[in-house]
Amino acid sequence: HNLKSYNTFGLPVLANYFGAPGSLDEIKEQLEWADKQKREVKILGGGSNVLITRDLPYFIMHPTFSKVEVVDENETHVWVDVDGGLNWHKFVLHCLENGWYGIENLSLIPGNVGAAPIQNIGAYGVEVKELIDTVFYLELESGVTRSVKNKDCDFGYRDSIFKRDLKGKILIYKVRFRLIKKVQVETSYGAIQSELEKMGIASPTPKDVSAAVIAIRQSKLPDPKELGNSGSFFKNPVVDVNTAEELKSKFPNLPNYPNPNGVKLAAGWLIEQAGLKGKRFGNCGVHDKQALVLVNYGQATGTEIWSMAQEVIKKVQDQFGISLEPEVNIW
Ligand code: EPU
Repeated sequence: HNLKSYNTFGLPVLANYFGAPGSLDEIKEQLEWADKQKREVKILGGGSNVLITRDLPYFIMHPTFSKVEVVDENETHVWVDVDGGLNWHKFVLHCLENGWYGIENLSLIPGNVGAAPIQNIGAYGVEVKELIDTVFYLELESGVTRSVKNKDCDFGYRDSIFKRDLKGKILIYKVRFRLIKKVQVETSYGAIQSELEKMGIASPTPKDVSAAVIAIRQSKLPDPKELGNSGSFFKNPVVDVNTAEELKSKFPNLPNYPNPNGVKLAAGWLIEQAGLKGKRFGNCGVHDKQALVLVNYGQATGTEIWSMAQEVIKKVQDQFGISLEPEVNIW
């Protein structure tokens, strides 16, 4: 099975076995089948956070179920159960149509709902952990379903238990969100403020914020349909306060943001300062509008993109003494 249209880098890698279950029962059936064949199972959602460097000997499971169901509400909030296979942005639009707010800053993030909790997707001042009530998952080995409440997901910046202890062991089939019914917006992020100003909007509605986010993303981030990519390729590094101070004295323009674990720096800035923004490496390159994004000009292989990533890591290490870590999964 060719996975070209199932990964946003557009890499034409092959999977030995592929299943697209449309229900929890189908997932269980396919897991039993894979178990009999002694095939390791890997979950591929929207394919927007993975770099595949070879043909895959696994059973690739791509869940397709996509129901949205209101399970509870009160005067201020609504609780909604959403199937893991639903496209994230479709869900955001569905929320805005229904007057469920809090999620609009996360407009246009690629990928599916089931992947959102794993790396605690975040953008423009909001992280999805603020909206998650419960995550429902299935253990791949036993087929048992379990749920975990928000406080036990141990969410952090691009981090959760699903990326640590549970990594590779589970499939998130449903997420319960707690959304806000009252109109309120989060516009403290500089880029949103300037975009809203450009749009001439002084008191933005959640739909305006969504439109602003979409405009910003479209101006900086390449559309995977036109130029293969997986969004931010690296995480923004978090360093301790002393390291940050030292760097700031050497590089006064260094963007830096306080973080519970120290100071978060901007990987895109570091890569740009290392002279790599817009640089082409054969069939791939560093995006010219956002240096944190690596792109496939069409004919690249996963190995080529991975070599380029290592080159980027090395240059930033040499110049700043900071080790960038990939945000995407490398298969
Ligand atoms: N910057 C540069 N050069 C660049 C890119 C960025 O100097 O080429 C500077 C900017 O000027 C700014 C700072 O770096 O001072 C931060 O840039 P930006 O606001 O574009 O955000 P980011 O830190 O590069 C993160 C997320 C994005 C998310 C944006 C907006 C990570 C790894 N990435 O990027 O998420 O959309 O913030 O909130 O945290 C993703 O995860 O795939 C993703 C796109």
